[in-house]
Amino acid sequence: MARILVTGGTGYIGSHTVVELMQSGFEVLIVDNLSNSNIQVLDGIEKIVGRRPDFAQLDVADLPKMRELLEKYTDIVAVIHFAASKAVGESVEKPLLYYRNNVLSLVNLLEVMKERGITNLVFSSSCTVYGQPSKEHLPVDETAPIQPALSPYGNTKQINEEIIRDEAHADSSLNAIILRYFNPIGAHPSALIGELPNGVPNNLLPFVTQTAAGLRKELKIFGNDYNTPDGSCIRDYINVVDLAKAHVVAVNRMLKVELRDRVEYFNLGTGRGLSVIEIVDTFEKVTGVKVPHTIVGRREGDIEKVWADPRKANEVLGWKATATVEETLLSAWNWQRHLSE
Ligand code: NAD
Ligand code: UD1
Repeated sequence: MARILVTGGTGYIGSHTVVELMQSGFEVLIVDNLSNSNIQVLDGIEKIVGRRPDFAQLDVADLPKMRELLEKYTDIVAVIHFAASKAVGESVEKPLLYYRNNVLSLVNLLEVMKERGITNLVFSSSCTVYGQPSKEHLPVDETAPIQPALSPYGNTKQINEEIIRDEAHADSSLNAIILRYFNPIGAHPSALIGELPNGVPNNLLPFVTQTAAGLRKELKIFGNDYNTPDGSCIRDYINVVDLAKAHVVAVNRMLKVELRDRVEYFNLGTGRGLSVIEIVDTFEKVTGVKVPHTIVGRREGDIEKVWADPRKANEVLGWKATATVEETLLSAWNWQRHLSE
């Protein structure tokens, strides 16, 4: 049985991906240092799938420990690398922490993969690499120019992409699929796993669900004076289970076909942009729960509007986001209620 090494596998996107991998018949080894996740996530995965993935509490940046671990696993056929620090604001305050964690982890991982003869890598990147695309590049496809990063976090994604490209160029055995996520939201329909934000959420959806649950007084909508139909920012919100499934497709692609290019890039989004106000209105409509909110000034560094052209992923990967925003918002609410139980 083929095994996938999933770094950051107890995190938000990682845990949903582990479920999809296991349900597709793969064995999984999770490596996570639990810096931004909880060991109980493994119980949720086991309840959904009926079996437990192997787990090692380890820092991916710890090369000797990673070597030691992987000596015990001879059946790994691919790696999905989620492990990273991801708080944009924190990365501005502590850039070295972000460069150390996000860059060193990847370098070490590539080294240990080479030593073990593991040649397939799927990497979590972000639409943040495109910055604010110009009008002619909206929706954004993979040929849109990469723009200077707006934060150290964003820069680590760009640097990681470059490291992978350079290493694939130097080592002809390495294949990589770089997935650029738009805005993942929602939770598994079982409500057994979901997003576990640390402290006050920075991202929109956890703030919306916590406000709806009465844990926060009100949602602040950052700006209604943007050049968009209702004045609030536009994003491409993608269901986390749809996103997770794309990783299984990517792994299977690497195992079954020769990649057209040794490093492939895919935008993972729905192709539909929604405004902050549309998200709040739709959330209230599908859940019947009010989200107290006020309009405040713009958040520094925010992108006005960005949404994906996912046609390359649709056509080449044969993957498409299928969940409606209504069911996705409902899944986020069901998860919040599960957390509040
Ligand atoms: P998350 O924080 O929920 O998951 C990341 C996991 O990695 C956590 O469980 C954390 O404990 C672990 N981790 C961090 N550093 C580690 C290290 N050095 N060694 C071992 N484990 C480590 O984040 P997520 O939302 O699931 O994001 C997963 C990946 O996708 C990240 O690379 C992130 O940058 C990227 N991404 C996320 C989003 C998003 O909106 N969530 C968007 C674009 C890209
Ligand atoms: C954030 C990250 C980005 C990352 C992306 C994907 C920042 C500056 N950027 O972007 O690097 O790739 O997540 O997960 O954090 N909003 C409110 N009120 C809130 C929270 C958010 O109005 O309390 C608005 C924001 O202004 C934005 C939208 O909701 O328009 C989505 O915000 P958020 O979830 O933080 O994601 P991004 O801004 O896309």
